[in-house]
Amino acid sequence: MPVSDEIRWGVVGPGRIAGNVMADFAHVPGARPVAVASRSADRAAAFAQRHGLERAHGSYAEILADPDVDVLYVATPHPQHCAVALAAIDAGKALLVEKAFTATTEGAREVVGRARERGVFVMEAMWTRFQPAVVRLRELVDDGAIGEVRSVQADLGVAREYDPADRLFARELGGGALLDLGVYVVSFAQMLLGDPDTVTATGSLFPTGVDAEAALLLGYADGRSATLTTSLRYPTPGQARVFGTAGWIDVLPRFHHPRTIVLHRSGAEPEEVTLPPSGTGYAHELAEVTGCLRAGRTESAVMPLADTLAVQTVLGQAAEQLGVRHAEDPHALG
Ligand SMILES: NC(=O)c1ccc[n+]([C@@H]2O[C@H](COP(=O)([O-])OP(=O)(O)OC[C@H]3O[C@@H](n4cnc5c(N)ncnc54)[C@H](OP(=O)(O)O)[C@@H]3O)[C@@H](O)[C@H]2O)c1
Repeated sequence: MPVSDEIRWGVVGPGRIAGNVMADFAHVPGARPVAVASRSADRAAAFAQRHGLERAHGSYAEILADPDVDVLYVATPHPQHCAVALAAIDAGKALLVEKAFTATTEGAREVVGRARERGVFVMEAMWTRFQPAVVRLRELVDDGAIGEVRSVQADLGVAREYDPADRLFARELGGGALLDLGVYVVSFAQMLLGDPDTVTATGSLFPTGVDAEAALLLGYADGRSATLTTSLRYPTPGQARVFGTAGWIDVLPRFHHPRTIVLHRSGAEPEEVTLPPSGTGYAHELAEVTGCLRAGRTESAVMPLADTLAVQTVLGQAAEQLGVRHAEDPHALG
């Protein structure tokens, strides 16, 4: 991929999150958003005007053929990531793909396989891993501040009014708590404990067949564990705790973009660490991708594709146990 000094970004799927992320480009040196693609030329033009972008494309295929875009930020609903990502990789475009990476484990395997085969940079937009407070948490854990990590707890839930047409509830749009919010609790546990040996899920479904709530127990052969809760049916604080043999760390709500962690070393007074994010918190993942592309990397060391695959596998196993049948949308490119 020919990469200019300045990394030129394109947006695919100008919905809610794409609009929010745009403001954070101002905090990322070397990154410039230049183009947007929508399934509608009018929506593309309106988004481009609102965010000062040079070019508006009225189809996703069009932006893949835009030679002056280095990397695409894919912000479509979950089943509409895979087909777009595969075509983008074939077109040589680097990718930042919103969480959950895909709707299915098979879809994730296909995208990761294609990216590796073609040597194209791809990263899941798991912004949690780049939050300064989470980076500090990992440093503390690596330094042995709480001894050996044995268990992780995390919850992330909201109470949303049921609307079968909304992407949060519609199966064809990858609805359900697991893909939208569960991905955060699973990714957080996977980051600290690695890939689990067993996954046990309990939960309930909405009438559309997607999960309304889920509790997950991740088991490791050596006795470590994670207990995780996610829901679109009831609110939870959004807290995480990391337990080690010499103490624990509280990640204060909401843990998926925290400002503050509290270190409890055994026998010592708690130590509070506050590290606010840049912008609204999306700047860090944008900076990671921009930096990786400038350095010629094909993967992020902080959010590697192997971790994305492991997380998607856990989500897939949990969905299967709950009886949720997700599928990729083969027509997502239009
Ligand atoms: N990181 C975060 O904090 C965060 C927060 C919220 C959401 N997300 C993630 O971002 C992604 C999008 O979420 P969102 O809340 O922004 O969704 P949204 O508001 O519904 O926007 C999604 C956009 O995707 C496009 N799209 C493509 N195919 C579609 C289809 N079949 N049906 C509906 N829209 C389709 C639409 O744009 P056009 O039709 O104009 O192309 C739409 O505006 C999801 O993966 C979600 O999990 C991340």
